[in-house]
Amino acid sequence: MSDRDSVFFRNFAFFTAALTVLTIVLILIGRSVHHYAMDDQSSQLDRGAVHKNIQPVATVNTDPNATSATPEVAVSEAPFGGSVDGQVIYDNVCMACHTTGAGGAPQLVHAEWDARVEQGIDTLYKHAIEGFTGDKGLMPAKGGRSDLTDEQVKASVDYMIDHLQ
Ligand code: HEC
Repeated sequence: MSDRDSVFFRNFAFFTAALTVLTIVLILIGRSVHHYAMDDQSSQLDRGAVHKNIQPVATVNTDPNATSATPEVAVSEAPFGGSVDGQVIYDNVCMACHTTGAGGAPQLVHAEWDARVEQGIDTLYKHAIEGFTGDKGLMPAKGGRSDLTDEQVKASVDYMIDHLQ
């Protein structure tokens, strides 16, 4: 074996050994990261939740005897559990603007609302559901939550009118 060959083999053996060590180190790091991630409660897979998240948005009902809409579907479509409690909708959606007056939104005081209420409740419902641009600013349709049902929006309008100060 020539000198050059032995230099090559020595370097090659060294290089192989280094790669082996690197591999072992990476395996150990990988195992500890995996272990760490699995210990963390928040990253534990909640299979029920995963299953719920990947549910199809709708299913075709081929049962001729079935009633039109199953309540379960109706509930899962509307936000806030389909609640028609005006306060729940108001606190979660409308309050952001109407309690602070952000963007020119009328706060819940008679001075800001009496003229609006005179338009009639149906106009208020319509403006809340379809959106409305007035002198004060832009009222987004359904307060920006297009997933709210009309009933939920109406309930929150009722709540607002009932809580003017
Ligand atoms: C992004 C801010 C914002 C959010 C969120 C918001 N509003 Fe408004 N809203 C406004 C503004 C601004 C006006 C005033 C528009 C004008 O008169 O110029 C308004 C006006 C209204 C009016 C009066 C309309 C009229 O005819 O005078 C109603 C009713 C109303 N909002 C209901 C709601 C309800 C119900 C929600 C929650 C579902 C909601 N708003 C969420 C900004 C908001």
